Amino acid sequence: MKTSWLTILPVWLLGTIVTASTPLQYCSVDAEEKTDLCFAVASFKNSTTQANDLSLHISTKFVVDATGWASVAIGPKMDNALMFIMYPGGEQGRITVSTRTTRYHAIPKVVSEDAPETHVTKTWIDDTGLYNAQIMCYNCESWSGTTLDVMSPSQPWIWATNWDQPTHSDDVHLKLRPHNAKGFTMLNMASSYSESGDIIAQVSTQRITQEPNTDDAGPAPPTMQDESDDHHPAKEHHKHSAFGLVSLHGFLLSFGFFALTFGVLGIRSGSSKSYKIHWTIQTGGGSAIVVGCLMGIYLSYKHGGHFGTFHQWIGLSMIPSVIIQGLLGYLHHVNYLKYGRRTAVSYYHIWLGRAALIIGNLNVGFGLNLAGAESFKWFTWYAGLAIQLSVLIPMWYFYARGKTILDAVRNKPVAKDVVRYESVEQDAFIVDDELDEFEDEGLGHDDLKNGKD
Ligand code: HEM
Ligand code: HEM
Ligand code: HEM
Repeated sequence: MKTSWLTILPVWLLGTIVTASTPLQYCSVDAEEKTDLCFAVASFKNSTTQANDLSLHISTKFVVDATGWASVAIGPKMDNALMFIMYPGGEQGRITVSTRTTRYHAIPKVVSEDAPETHVTKTWIDDTGLYNAQIMCYNCESWSGTTLDVMSPSQPWIWATNWDQPTHSDDVHLKLRPHNAKGFTMLNMASSYSESGDIIAQVSTQRITQEPNTDDAGPAPPTMQDESDDHHPAKEHHKHSAFGLVSLHGFLLSFGFFALTFGVLGIRSGSSKSYKIHWTIQTGGGSAIVVGCLMGIYLSYKHGGHFGTFHQWIGLSMIPSVIIQGLLGYLHHVNYLKYGRRTAVSYYHIWLGRAALIIGNLNVGFGLNLAGAESFKWFTWYAGLAIQLSVLIPMWYFYARGKTILDAVRNKPVAKDVVRYESVEQDAFIVDDELDEFEDEGLGHDDLKNGKD
């Protein structure tokens, strides 16, 4: 970490000139959390554009092995916040600053072009190992994701740090790993606002939270950790408790799609109860899926009414698909009893069912990503997928060869001249009672197949 005095001096001088009084700054310095982060903000009316520009100085130490990332963001929570993220650059002495945003708790992505224009005016690393970045955000109040009000006495800001990701990259799109520490604060923006002329935010040498024109550092603003007000926006959002709504939504849907695999196994099992097993499991699983999706819609309204993610769109398409799938299954059955063979409806049912099964299971992954779920949930999902594949692959393999699972288990040879479908399904998906009824009426299997209704 080489830093020349020639680099620091002008910045320091400028800092002392433009921030004559105590800066408006927030610090979180906590050895246990391996966090040493301060940021200062100042805002002013741009005499040319008449819009309010924001100056931001982030100063952080990458405490462990000089790696990780640090971020501050405008807003009460991650969702739609305007994030300024910094990490060590590709070469020693360099710093990368990336302006990003995200939906819910997904990995933040670089902002699109309609975001306010930002400019990194200066980056440097000082002798004590502090990484610094000064950033200008022009007409910053135009950010529509969250609200920035440079005159507000209580503007919400969030911050987060990570100390173990091997960053060291010049790539502003670098995929971030989750934070190890995070927090929330309110800043009195009005106290650092200037009507006249440019000012540059500058973190003071005292790494404590402070407000302009106060000699003593005031009490630290509330953080996520010590916040006790239940109505606090950052805290109110996302209680990812084991029995919270998000988890329940995820559980119902993951379980619902997992169950469908066993319903499919049921219909291909070769058991005399295969039809009953299939429709019972699929109706149960399908109902759980519809209820789970409705919960997803409720969740989305609760989280601000945004419906823009891939996860939600796929999820929404599952509601009609699953309902139609149930009806097709029933129609297929009615037709089969009537004509004794598959009809077009049967194929719609089979293929829509297979597609829904696969897409729904994948959407569990998109949901986990959206919720930024912890690794336990990811591993549970992987295990669920592995179990399903180990059931479906052999099942489809034997089915393609005209065998049911029971045939395969009993190693029963398949007659050469039988039609594959009938060899597997002939009796399998006609409810026993219904067969009895037909037999009472003097109709056997052959009659059924010949369409004698
Ligand atoms: C890979 C990137 C990130 C992931 C996967 C992620 C994931 C998450 C998750 C799952 C939560 C909710 C659970 C919890 O309370 O721990 C959360 C909360 C939070 N994150 Fe992140 N985060 C990321 C980046 C960031 C960044 C760059 C910031 C910048 C300031 C940030 C700030 C916060 C804050 C303040 C909260 C609590 C408020 C809220 O729920 O939104 N996160 N994050
Ligand atoms: C959400 C509900 C349902 C789903 C997701 C579903 C899914 C499936 C799938 C994927 C198959 C093809 C199995 C394979 O891959 O080999 C299948 C077959 C079948 N399903 Fe369903 N099913 C559902 C509901 C029903 C219902 C309610 C009935 C009856 C009332 C039914 C009757 C059948 C029958 C008879 C077959 C065998 C079709 C044939 O081989 O010609 N299903 N189902
Ligand atoms: C195929 C159907 C769906 C599946 C398999 C599914 C699955 C999941 C899973 C596994 C999670 C993560 C839960 C956790 O971390 O414990 C999740 C979160 C979520 N899902 Fe779904 N979901 C589906 C449909 C929907 C629908 C229809 C919507 C709304 C339109 C929706 C909205 C959400 C939202 C808002 C979250 C929470 C994201 C956050 O943490 O902020 N989902 N989903």
